[in-house]
Amino acid sequence: MFRNLVTSCLFKHPCNSTSSLATFHRLSGALKQQLAINDLPADCPQLPPCEFTPEEYKFLSEQQMMEIRKRYCGPTTMVNTYYKKPVSIRQGFMQWLWDLNGKRYLDFFSGVATVSVGHCHPRVNAAAKKQMERLWHTTNIYLHSPLHEYCEKLAALFPEPLKSVYLTNSGSEANDLAMLLARLYTGNFDIITFRGAYHGGSPHSVGLTRVGSYRFPVATGLGCHQTMCPDVYSGIWGGSHCRDCVVQADRKCSCTSGSCHAKDMYLEQLKDTLNTSTSKSVAGFFAEPIQGVGGVVQYPKGYLKEAFKMIRERGGVCIADEVQSGFGRTGKDIWAFKAHDVIPDIVTMAKGIANGFPMGAVITSRDIADTLTRALHFNTFGGNPIGCAAGSAVIDALLEDKLAQNSTEVGTYLLIGLAKLQSKFEIIGDVRGKGLLIGVEMVKDKITRKPLPNVEMDQIFEDCKDMGLLLGKGGVHGQTFRMKPPLCVTKADADFALAVFELALKRHEKRQ
Ligand SMILES: Cc1ncc(COP(=O)(O)O)c(C=O)c1O
Repeated sequence: MFRNLVTSCLFKHPCNSTSSLATFHRLSGALKQQLAINDLPADCPQLPPCEFTPEEYKFLSEQQMMEIRKRYCGPTTMVNTYYKKPVSIRQGFMQWLWDLNGKRYLDFFSGVATVSVGHCHPRVNAAAKKQMERLWHTTNIYLHSPLHEYCEKLAALFPEPLKSVYLTNSGSEANDLAMLLARLYTGNFDIITFRGAYHGGSPHSVGLTRVGSYRFPVATGLGCHQTMCPDVYSGIWGGSHCRDCVVQADRKCSCTSGSCHAKDMYLEQLKDTLNTSTSKSVAGFFAEPIQGVGGVVQYPKGYLKEAFKMIRERGGVCIADEVQSGFGRTGKDIWAFKAHDVIPDIVTMAKGIANGFPMGAVITSRDIADTLTRALHFNTFGGNPIGCAAGSAVIDALLEDKLAQNSTEVGTYLLIGLAKLQSKFEIIGDVRGKGLLIGVEMVKDKITRKPLPNVEMDQIFEDCKDMGLLLGKGGVHGQTFRMKPPLCVTKADADFALAVFELALKRHEKRQ
């Protein structure tokens, strides 16, 4: 009974309801500490209302989990470093997460841009449950309806000739397979990616990844080369008209209409890489249409189109890594490559594909796919019936709930709100992105554009979390806040996020 009383009190977080303030004051000091809300500012913005009530929590305590984690979990995850006070999650619904104490959070990171249509989206849950009761597992050596329904549905979202689908377990595996396809099809070996790109952590895909913090001192990625990332904010070149975003970089631009100096200079860098680092013929070029882990970096308009041409002239194929940017995250186009006016030869995807169920995919032309028949290629779980059922329901939800359109609408609203904050705060260097793939690059000052020190980033990050907003971090120096909520968020949620972020920045100013 005591536990029930505590639980019901704990749900009444002062951020959720002012009327519950009295209840909060009646809690014991220990409980307040448990809630970690002593430090909340009096003017903490109020979370938008939510009708959903999570189940009673009957599982491991935070302390028990930390103990187990110390003893039995490999020390590779970031839980000890991501937040000073770790967040323990008990349940999720749509854009909301609840912690063990019942505190509600607006999830603006979606488990790293992975929950696409909303936590436990009823349609996806129902489809997965139904399939689970029918058949959990069989492999793609048999005909089974969920796999075939899914491949047809996915292919319908792509233009010709992208109609041959392979299903994998993850984004890294999808990129491994795309590397293999590129090499088999072209007969070439060299692959090019951008510095600052993240394409996975498997032994092959980590060769594509060029963020130092993800690289171990072991031999990896034979034949993988990097070129300069065409980052129009913190790169060498960039101006005020370069990118496909409602907010432009705060840099001077002297380009005449129809020309982009930054684009031309970054393409020169790619040419230089081709002339100095690779053999005459290359296997391929991997690019995210908008970089995710790298800090939501957007390239100059027209860059990818010309880069693809250059790579194809060298015999290579062009691979769009849509692991993070796909499935409506960047808005109504569904695929972020479309805004670059290109059709890639291969597209890889994962993350949002099945709303969190482990799954990935590669889509390519029949010509390229046919090269894989030279040997047997098999994976046990690729095309798992539950994953395919969840994936089909994600596409249905995306289309029927018009979530890609919502991503454009709420994302644009958020970008404009963030740009207003940028004009108020010296430490917001850049606001960028498209749809609900948004980055806010934090700097020491707007002149030098040097990264805001990690300790200051962490304080702002922690403050936002304490006020009920979960963000992500990215960029080569960890200097960019990443906002990638489930695509079902509303403008009211965006207003809450903006208010929390603004307050956290004001608190940062006071600390200086
Ligand atoms: C763009 C991109 N590609 C590939 C991957 C690797 O995906 P996974 O973690 O599913 O292996 C990620 C993961 O963050 C990613 O962001």
